[in-house]
Amino acid sequence: MSQRILVTGGAGFIGSSLCERLLSEGHHVVALDDMFRGRADNLEACSKHESFHFLSGDARSSEDLQRCYDLLGGIDLIHHLAAINGTRWFHEAARQVIDVNINATLATVEKALEWGARYVLASSPEAFGDVTNMPLMEESASLFSNPSQHQRFAYGASKYLDEVAVQHAVRNGLDGRIVRPFNGYGERLMGDKYGQVVAMMFEAVRRQEPINVHGDGQQTRSFTHVDDLVNGFYLAGHLDEGIEGQPLIGVSFNLGSDEEVNMLTLAQSINGVVGSQAVDIVLSEGYHGDSVRRLPDCSNAVTMLGWCPAISLKSGLISVWNRLQGQP
Ligand SMILES: NC(=O)c1ccc[n+]([C@@H]2O[C@H](COP(=O)([O-])OP(=O)(O)OC[C@H]3O[C@@H](n4cnc5c(N)ncnc54)[C@H](O)[C@@H]3O)[C@@H](O)[C@H]2O)c1
Repeated sequence: MSQRILVTGGAGFIGSSLCERLLSEGHHVVALDDMFRGRADNLEACSKHESFHFLSGDARSSEDLQRCYDLLGGIDLIHHLAAINGTRWFHEAARQVIDVNINATLATVEKALEWGARYVLASSPEAFGDVTNMPLMEESASLFSNPSQHQRFAYGASKYLDEVAVQHAVRNGLDGRIVRPFNGYGERLMGDKYGQVVAMMFEAVRRQEPINVHGDGQQTRSFTHVDDLVNGFYLAGHLDEGIEGQPLIGVSFNLGSDEEVNMLTLAQSINGVVGSQAVDIVLSEGYHGDSVRRLPDCSNAVTMLGWCPAISLKSGLISVWNRLQGQP
């Protein structure tokens, strides 16, 4: 059945692809974005669709959220993705990161309760903080270092509090679900100095500059193609119950690949993909507080949503590079 869906942060990297998927499934979509990091060209395909609306506004604002409701004549589901992402911002603009990440979640949760809408929160593996035991289980406890050392957890701790707010609302009747994307990548990922690692490495190649790898390059991540992430968001919002009838309300879903890759290997893989355009790889100082390892256990997503990542890192990197080169 066709639904009326609000995607906050809809002009961003994941949000814009999610809007495309929701439209292709026959839903009516309104994307709300203040364009802090969103891009109009991300929404080029969506804007040709008659069931799509874009609203420039602030996800912290009750009035802007209400305008979204009025545009579609009601909202059945909120995918809340608006947040300030990008490691450099965590350190440089900690106050703003905390403000947006927490207050936009509080405002959208409140509206979801008022409207009787289902709610999907985009949380993050950063909500686990400094935990070193891997893999990260969906129910793992979080651990945060002292804030006098660095401000990285402006982001992770605000995502943690977002989860607290959703779980609290669940106790008050919200049909809330939580997804945690693990290092998404795709051709729309931002590669500037406020961007994220895969895109920054491709950007270095495009500029024919050395790829910077932080620290000793041994820190690992689980890289997940945006199409796999979008599928996880879609299922988390779409399913009334799990594939074996499990309740989904209040459940958290890690969405990540089980390929654990260190940064040096990632840089080498990118050089492998770009062939004759390969550049030097140099080690440089990283950000204080960066996690050493990050590997998810995605049991809830697999057993309840029937989700599993379909795109290997190698084929994903090839497809991103081809698209960055203007090929389909
Ligand atoms: N990309 C990843 O690998 C990843 C990993 C973990 C969690 N997440 C979470 O998933 C969500 C989407 O991430 P993304 O990578 O697409 O990030 P993104 O920065 O591309 O998208 C976020 C969007 O939110 C918008 N935004 C920021 N403040 C806003 C506000 N006050 N009102 C309205 N819009 C606002 C930005 O302009 C941007 O378009 C975020 O919540 C992020 O924290 C992403």
